[in-house]
Amino acid sequence: MSSGSFSRVGVVGLGTMGAGIAEVLARGGVEVVGIEVDRQALDRGRGNLETSTGRAVKRGKLTEEGKQEILDRIALSTEFAALAECDLVIEAVPERLDLKRRVFEELDRVCRDDAVLATNTSSLSVTDIAVTTNRPAKIVGVHFFNPAPVMKLVEVIGTVLTEDGAAGRVANLVKSLGKTPVSIGDRAGFVANRLLFGYLNQAAGMLESGHATRDDIDAAMKAGGGLPMGPFTLMDLIGLDTCLEVLEAIYRESRDRRHAPSPLLRELVTAGLLGRKTGHGFYSYDTSAPAAEP
Ligand code: 3HC
Repeated sequence: MSSGSFSRVGVVGLGTMGAGIAEVLARGGVEVVGIEVDRQALDRGRGNLETSTGRAVKRGKLTEEGKQEILDRIALSTEFAALAECDLVIEAVPERLDLKRRVFEELDRVCRDDAVLATNTSSLSVTDIAVTTNRPAKIVGVHFFNPAPVMKLVEVIGTVLTEDGAAGRVANLVKSLGKTPVSIGDRAGFVANRLLFGYLNQAAGMLESGHATRDDIDAAMKAGGGLPMGPFTLMDLIGLDTCLEVLEAIYRESRDRRHAPSPLLRELVTAGLLGRKTGHGFYSYDTSAPAAEP
């Protein structure tokens, strides 16, 4: 499989999204350099990669040797210097502008001048990140969906400063990985989240107002809307903190009340009930504690 004009790609941050992106790249035959902040986080990242590829082996979709080949294609390091020979780096660190800016300043310093630098942000402005570097023409957004190994869509975001070639090369890479790229300007929520999150937020509002129960709203959208998951199962998968961040970003830009975050969502986030990743969200994934339904 050809990976377009990128042969070595860095991924910074190996949480759920970063590890998923690294796996997708390695499956596509790309040499990957995965970076985490320290040993402990790197071990967690390695665990994420093992779990996801192990799942494919268990389901008979991948042989043990195939899994090993994929993992062997991903070099892991805690040093940004390991990215020096990458021609593309995808950043997938937590959604904090100050953190992302620091990462991009560092990438700008260590990466080759012709390297393209991409952010997997779902809610921050790509332009805000681009202007912190000395190569704004080579900064793009590349927005994967969760779970990255499964979801076909990848939004490729060019800012007013991005040169055409950079976004086009990233879109070609995405295609070569068997995904569907769509090209978008730098607007909060891009396309998919802008449409999806109005619906998710409205579901939270319906639950809060007693319109219907969590289970009935989920069942309605699954059985009647033809969706693989109802809105509460999906928000728990995405992470309620991420849902809140995305809604806040879209609301800040659009002032559209459909995106004013539901108080219930905000309350769950404040309480630390963030969905599957913490074991509790709209549902409980830990049988020893009650679910968080009001
Ligand atoms: N990682 C890797 N692979 C996974 C996975 C994961 N976390 N979860 C499921 N899979 C794979 C399975 O291995 C299986 O693969 P196979 O078909 O090759 O055997 C396939 O996905 C189906 O899995 P299951 O049969 O176990 O479960 P489901 O059929 O219920 O599918 C799902 C699970 C793919 C998560 C499906 O429910 C789904 O598509 N849900 C909607 C997800 C969605 O909408 N995501 C977008 C969220 S918005 C977003 O990410 C944007 C961000 O900015 C917030």
